[in-house]
Amino acid sequence: MSAAPAQGRARLAALADRLAAAGIAEPRRELRLLQIEAGGARSLADWPDRPHPGLEALANRRAAREPVSRIVGRREFWSRDFLLTADTFDPRPDSETVVEAALAAVPAFGNVLDLGTGSGCLLAALLAERPGAWGLGIDRSPGACRTARRNLKGLRAFVAAGDWGAAVAGRFDLVVSNPPYIPSAEIAALMPEVRDHDPRLALDGGADGLDAYRAILGGLPRLLSPAGAAVLELGIGQADAVAALAEANGLPVRDIRADLAGIPRAMVLGSQL
Ligand SMILES: C[S@@+](CC[C@H](N)C(=O)[O-])C[C@H]1O[C@@H](n2cnc3c(N)ncnc32)[C@H](O)[C@@H]1O
Repeated sequence: MSAAPAQGRARLAALADRLAAAGIAEPRRELRLLQIEAGGARSLADWPDRPHPGLEALANRRAAREPVSRIVGRREFWSRDFLLTADTFDPRPDSETVVEAALAAVPAFGNVLDLGTGSGCLLAALLAERPGAWGLGIDRSPGACRTARRNLKGLRAFVAAGDWGAAVAGRFDLVVSNPPYIPSAEIAALMPEVRDHDPRLALDGGADGLDAYRAILGGLPRLLSPAGAAVLELGIGQADAVAALAEANGLPVRDIRADLAGIPRAMVLGSQL
Protein backbone atom coordinates (compact mmCIF):
# COMPACT_ATOMS: atom_id res chain seq x y z
CA MET A 1 0.00 0.00 0.00
CA SER A 2 1.26 3.50 -0.87
CA ALA A 3 2.34 5.78 1.98
CA ALA A 4 1.44 8.89 -0.10
CA PRO A 5 -2.04 9.57 1.40
CA ALA A 6 -0.69 9.34 4.93
CA GLN A 7 2.16 11.70 4.06
CA GLY A 8 -0.25 14.14 2.42
CA ARG A 9 -2.50 14.12 5.48
CA ALA A 10 0.51 14.71 7.72
CA ARG A 11 1.52 17.72 5.59
CA LEU A 12 -2.03 19.10 5.87
CA ALA A 13 -2.00 18.58 9.65
CA ALA A 14 1.34 20.39 9.85
CA LEU A 15 -0.11 23.38 7.96
CA ALA A 16 -3.14 23.46 10.29
CA ASP A 17 -0.75 23.37 13.27
CA ARG A 18 1.17 26.29 11.76
CA LEU A 19 -2.05 28.34 11.56
CA ALA A 20 -3.02 27.39 15.12
CA ALA A 21 0.41 28.42 16.38
CA ALA A 22 -0.03 31.81 14.65
CA GLY A 23 -3.20 32.37 16.71
CA ILE A 24 -5.83 31.46 14.09
CA ALA A 25 -8.98 30.33 15.95
CA GLU A 26 -10.34 27.92 13.31
CA PRO A 27 -7.20 26.62 11.56
CA ARG A 28 -8.75 23.55 9.88
CA ARG A 29 -11.76 25.42 8.50
CA GLU A 30 -9.58 28.22 7.17
CA LEU A 31 -7.14 25.73 5.64
CA ARG A 32 -10.09 24.19 3.79
CA LEU A 33 -11.11 27.62 2.48
CA LEU A 34 -7.55 28.14 1.25
CA GLN A 35 -7.47 24.65 -0.31
CA ILE A 36 -10.57 25.64 -2.32
CA GLU A 37 -8.79 28.84 -3.37
CA ALA A 38 -5.70 26.86 -4.39
CA GLY A 39 -7.93 24.76 -6.65
CA GLY A 40 -7.59 21.59 -4.60
CA ALA A 41 -11.18 21.25 -3.36
CA ARG A 42 -14.67 22.21 -4.51
CA SER A 43 -16.31 22.78 -1.13
CA LEU A 44 -15.64 22.75 2.60
CA ALA A 45 -16.89 19.14 2.71
CA ASP A 46 -14.51 18.06 -0.05
CA TRP A 47 -11.32 17.38 1.90
CA PRO A 48 -8.52 15.86 -0.19
CA ASP A 49 -5.70 13.85 1.34
CA ARG A 50 -2.86 16.16 0.38
CA PRO A 51 -2.12 19.89 0.04
CA HIS A 52 -2.81 21.19 -3.44
CA PRO A 53 0.19 22.97 -5.06
CA GLY A 54 -0.03 26.57 -3.93
CA LEU A 55 -1.77 25.82 -0.63
CA GLU A 56 1.40 26.20 1.41
CA ALA A 57 2.04 29.72 0.05
CA LEU A 58 -1.56 30.73 0.91
CA ALA A 59 -1.27 29.17 4.38
CA ASN A 60 1.95 31.13 4.97
CA ARG A 61 0.09 34.37 4.18
CA ARG A 62 -2.68 33.41 6.61
CA ALA A 63 -0.09 32.52 9.28
CA ALA A 64 1.22 36.09 8.83
CA ARG A 65 -2.36 37.16 9.80
CA GLU A 66 -3.59 38.24 6.39
CA PRO A 67 -7.38 37.59 6.46
CA VAL A 68 -8.76 34.82 4.22
CA SER A 69 -11.00 37.44 2.56
CA ARG A 70 -7.92 39.44 1.49
CA ILE A 71 -6.12 36.33 0.27
CA VAL A 72 -9.06 35.24 -1.88
CA GLY A 73 -9.91 38.88 -2.79
CA ARG A 74 -13.59 38.76 -2.00
CA ARG A 75 -16.12 38.75 0.84
CA GLU A 76 -19.75 37.71 1.06
CA PHE A 77 -22.19 40.31 2.40
CA TRP A 78 -26.00 40.16 2.26
CA SER A 79 -25.65 36.95 0.17
CA ARG A 80 -23.63 38.74 -2.56
CA ASP A 81 -19.93 38.44 -3.35
CA PHE A 82 -17.84 41.65 -3.18
CA LEU A 83 -14.40 42.12 -4.68
CA LEU A 84 -11.86 43.45 -2.21
CA THR A 85 -8.70 45.41 -2.92
CA ALA A 86 -6.11 47.00 -0.64
CA ASP A 87 -8.17 50.24 -0.78
CA THR A 88 -11.44 48.70 0.38
CA PHE A 89 -12.60 48.02 3.91
CA ASP A 90 -13.49 44.35 4.41
CA PRO A 91 -17.30 44.32 4.95
CA ARG A 92 -18.38 42.98 8.36
CA PRO A 93 -21.48 40.89 9.07
CA ASP A 94 -22.47 43.44 11.77
CA SER A 95 -23.06 46.00 9.02
CA GLU A 96 -25.99 43.94 7.75
CA THR A 97 -27.81 45.51 10.73
CA VAL A 98 -27.55 48.85 8.87
CA VAL A 99 -29.20 47.32 5.79
CA GLU A 100 -32.02 45.80 7.87
CA ALA A 101 -32.62 49.07 9.73
CA ALA A 102 -32.63 51.07 6.48
CA LEU A 103 -35.14 48.77 4.77
CA ALA A 104 -37.41 48.96 7.82
CA ALA A 105 -37.09 52.76 8.18
CA VAL A 106 -37.87 53.64 4.54
CA PRO A 107 -39.35 50.54 2.88
CA ALA A 108 -40.14 52.25 -0.43
CA PHE A 109 -37.13 54.52 -1.01
CA GLY A 110 -36.62 55.91 -4.51
CA ASN A 111 -33.00 56.91 -4.02
CA VAL A 112 -30.21 56.23 -1.53
CA LEU A 113 -26.93 57.93 -0.70
CA ASP A 114 -24.09 55.87 0.84
CA LEU A 115 -21.37 58.00 2.46
CA GLY A 116 -18.04 56.14 2.68
CA THR A 117 -19.17 53.38 0.35
CA GLY A 118 -15.93 51.32 0.44
CA SER A 119 -16.62 48.09 -1.47
CA GLY A 120 -20.15 49.35 -2.16
CA CYS A 121 -21.63 46.60 0.01
CA LEU A 122 -24.35 48.65 1.77
CA LEU A 123 -25.44 50.33 -1.45
CA ALA A 124 -25.50 47.06 -3.41
CA ALA A 125 -27.48 45.26 -0.71
CA LEU A 126 -30.08 48.05 -0.59
CA LEU A 127 -30.41 48.42 -4.37
CA ALA A 128 -30.67 44.65 -4.83
CA GLU A 129 -33.67 44.72 -2.48
CA ARG A 130 -35.33 47.64 -4.32
CA PRO A 131 -34.52 47.31 -8.04
CA GLY A 132 -36.61 50.40 -8.91
CA ALA A 133 -34.42 52.68 -6.77
CA TRP A 134 -31.13 54.34 -7.73
CA GLY A 135 -28.13 55.08 -5.57
CA LEU A 136 -25.04 57.24 -5.16
CA GLY A 137 -21.92 56.04 -3.34
CA ILE A 138 -19.25 58.50 -2.18
CA ASP A 139 -15.78 57.65 -0.93
CA ARG A 140 -12.65 59.69 -0.28
CA SER A 141 -10.51 56.87 -1.68
CA PRO A 142 -10.36 56.78 -5.51
CA GLY A 143 -9.24 53.13 -5.31
CA ALA A 144 -12.28 52.19 -3.22
CA CYS A 145 -14.49 54.03 -5.75
CA ARG A 146 -13.06 51.91 -8.58
CA THR A 147 -13.76 48.67 -6.69
CA ALA A 148 -17.25 49.83 -5.67
CA ARG A 149 -18.09 50.54 -9.33
CA ARG A 150 -17.18 46.95 -10.22
CA ASN A 151 -19.21 45.58 -7.30
CA LEU A 152 -22.23 47.70 -8.23
CA LYS A 153 -22.29 46.69 -11.89
CA GLY A 154 -25.80 45.84 -13.03
CA LEU A 155 -27.40 47.95 -10.29
CA ARG A 156 -28.66 51.51 -10.74
CA ALA A 157 -25.71 53.10 -8.97
CA PHE A 158 -23.21 55.91 -9.45
CA VAL A 159 -19.98 56.20 -7.49
CA ALA A 160 -17.92 59.37 -7.04
CA ALA A 161 -14.87 60.37 -5.04
CA GLY A 162 -15.60 63.06 -2.48
CA ASP A 163 -15.48 64.24 1.11
CA TRP A 164 -18.67 62.85 2.69
CA GLY A 165 -21.69 64.80 1.36
CA ALA A 166 -19.85 68.08 0.71
CA ALA A 167 -20.18 67.99 -3.09
CA VAL A 168 -23.49 66.11 -3.25
CA ALA A 169 -26.52 67.99 -4.54
CA GLY A 170 -30.18 67.03 -4.13
CA ARG A 171 -32.11 65.17 -1.47
CA PHE A 172 -32.32 61.46 -0.70
CA ASP A 173 -35.02 59.25 0.79
CA LEU A 174 -32.34 57.22 2.51
CA VAL A 175 -28.78 58.06 3.58
CA VAL A 176 -26.60 55.31 5.01
CA SER A 177 -23.07 55.39 6.34
CA ASN A 178 -20.64 53.14 8.12
CA PRO A 179 -17.99 55.73 8.92
CA PRO A 180 -14.51 55.20 10.39
CA TYR A 181 -15.09 55.21 14.16
CA ILE A 182 -12.03 53.79 15.92
CA PRO A 183 -10.28 56.34 18.17
CA SER A 184 -6.82 56.96 16.64
CA ALA A 185 -4.94 55.82 19.76
CA GLU A 186 -6.70 52.42 19.73
CA ILE A 187 -5.70 51.43 16.20
CA ALA A 188 -2.25 50.09 17.18
CA ALA A 189 -3.90 47.56 19.52
CA LEU A 190 -6.35 46.13 16.95
CA MET A 191 -6.00 42.58 15.65
CA PRO A 192 -3.33 42.36 12.91
CA GLU A 193 -6.01 41.31 10.39
CA VAL A 194 -7.67 44.70 10.90
CA ARG A 195 -4.74 46.98 11.79
CA ASP A 196 -2.47 45.80 8.97
CA HIS A 197 -5.03 45.10 6.22
CA ASP A 198 -8.03 47.44 6.46
CA PRO A 199 -7.17 50.91 5.09
CA ARG A 200 -6.35 53.43 7.83
CA LEU A 201 -8.80 55.84 6.15
CA ALA A 202 -11.58 53.32 6.82
CA LEU A 203 -10.73 52.90 10.52
CA ASP A 204 -9.49 56.17 11.97
CA GLY A 205 -12.24 58.20 13.61
CA GLY A 206 -9.89 60.82 15.13
CA ALA A 207 -9.08 61.43 18.79
CA ASP A 208 -12.48 60.38 20.18
CA GLY A 209 -13.63 58.24 17.21
CA LEU A 210 -16.38 60.74 16.36
CA ASP A 211 -14.77 63.01 13.73
CA ALA A 212 -16.60 61.40 10.80
CA TYR A 213 -19.98 61.57 12.59
CA ARG A 214 -19.47 65.31 13.18
CA ALA A 215 -18.72 65.89 9.50
CA ILE A 216 -21.55 63.67 8.20
CA LEU A 217 -24.22 64.92 10.62
CA GLY A 218 -23.39 68.56 9.88
CA GLY A 219 -24.29 68.04 6.22
CA LEU A 220 -27.15 65.61 6.64
CA PRO A 221 -30.15 67.99 7.08
CA ARG A 222 -29.43 69.41 3.58
CA LEU A 223 -29.32 65.91 2.02
CA LEU A 224 -32.39 64.21 3.53
CA SER A 225 -35.79 64.44 1.85
CA PRO A 226 -38.71 65.48 4.11
CA ALA A 227 -39.88 61.92 4.83
CA GLY A 228 -36.39 60.47 4.61
CA ALA A 229 -34.20 58.73 7.16
CA ALA A 230 -30.51 58.24 7.74
CA VAL A 231 -28.97 55.10 9.19
CA LEU A 232 -25.51 55.29 10.72
CA GLU A 233 -23.44 52.37 11.92
CA LEU A 234 -22.16 52.79 15.49
CA GLY A 235 -18.97 51.64 17.18
CA ILE A 236 -19.24 49.97 20.56
CA GLY A 237 -20.33 52.45 23.25
CA GLN A 238 -20.88 55.35 20.83
CA ALA A 239 -24.70 55.48 20.80
CA ASP A 240 -25.14 58.29 23.36
CA ALA A 241 -22.44 60.51 21.88
CA VAL A 242 -23.73 60.06 18.30
CA ALA A 243 -27.32 60.68 19.43
CA ALA A 244 -26.22 63.96 21.08
CA LEU A 245 -24.43 65.04 17.88
CA ALA A 246 -27.48 64.13 15.76
CA GLU A 247 -29.88 66.05 17.98
CA ALA A 248 -27.55 69.07 17.99
CA ASN A 249 -27.98 69.04 14.18
CA GLY A 250 -31.78 68.83 14.47
CA LEU A 251 -31.96 65.13 13.60
CA PRO A 252 -34.15 63.14 16.03
CA VAL A 253 -33.20 59.53 16.85
CA ARG A 254 -36.01 57.24 15.70
CA ASP A 255 -34.55 53.84 16.47
CA ILE A 256 -31.39 52.04 17.50
CA ARG A 257 -30.91 48.45 16.35
CA ALA A 258 -28.63 45.91 17.96
CA ASP A 259 -26.46 43.47 16.01
CA LEU A 260 -26.49 39.69 16.57
CA ALA A 261 -24.22 40.12 19.61
CA GLY A 262 -26.73 42.55 21.18
CA ILE A 263 -24.49 45.59 20.61
CA PRO A 264 -26.31 48.82 19.54
CA ARG A 265 -25.09 49.00 15.94
CA ALA A 266 -27.40 51.01 13.69
CA MET A 267 -28.91 54.40 14.57
CA VAL A 268 -31.93 55.57 12.59
CA LEU A 269 -32.34 59.35 12.34
CA GLY A 270 -35.34 61.22 11.00
CA SER A 271 -35.42 64.32 8.89
CA GLN A 272 -36.12 67.57 10.72
CA LEU A 273 -38.27 68.87 7.87
C1 LIG B 1 -15.66 51.63 7.78
S1 LIG B 1 -15.45 51.88 6.04
C2 LIG B 1 -17.06 51.40 5.44
C3 LIG B 1 -17.07 50.87 4.03
C4 LIG B 1 -18.39 50.24 3.61
N1 LIG B 1 -19.46 51.21 3.60
C5 LIG B 1 -18.75 49.08 4.52
O1 LIG B 1 -19.70 49.23 5.31
O2 LIG B 1 -18.08 48.04 4.48
C6 LIG B 1 -15.47 53.67 5.94
C7 LIG B 1 -15.29 54.22 4.53
O3 LIG B 1 -15.29 55.66 4.61
C8 LIG B 1 -14.36 56.17 3.68
N2 LIG B 1 -14.01 57.53 4.08
C9 LIG B 1 -13.16 57.93 5.05
N3 LIG B 1 -13.13 59.28 5.12
C10 LIG B 1 -13.97 59.75 4.17
C11 LIG B 1 -14.38 61.06 3.77
N4 LIG B 1 -13.90 62.15 4.36
N5 LIG B 1 -15.29 61.15 2.78
C12 LIG B 1 -15.81 60.04 2.18
N6 LIG B 1 -15.44 58.78 2.51
C13 LIG B 1 -14.54 58.63 3.52
C14 LIG B 1 -13.22 55.17 3.74
O4 LIG B 1 -12.39 55.26 2.59
C15 LIG B 1 -13.98 53.84 3.85
O5 LIG B 1 -14.23 53.30 2.59
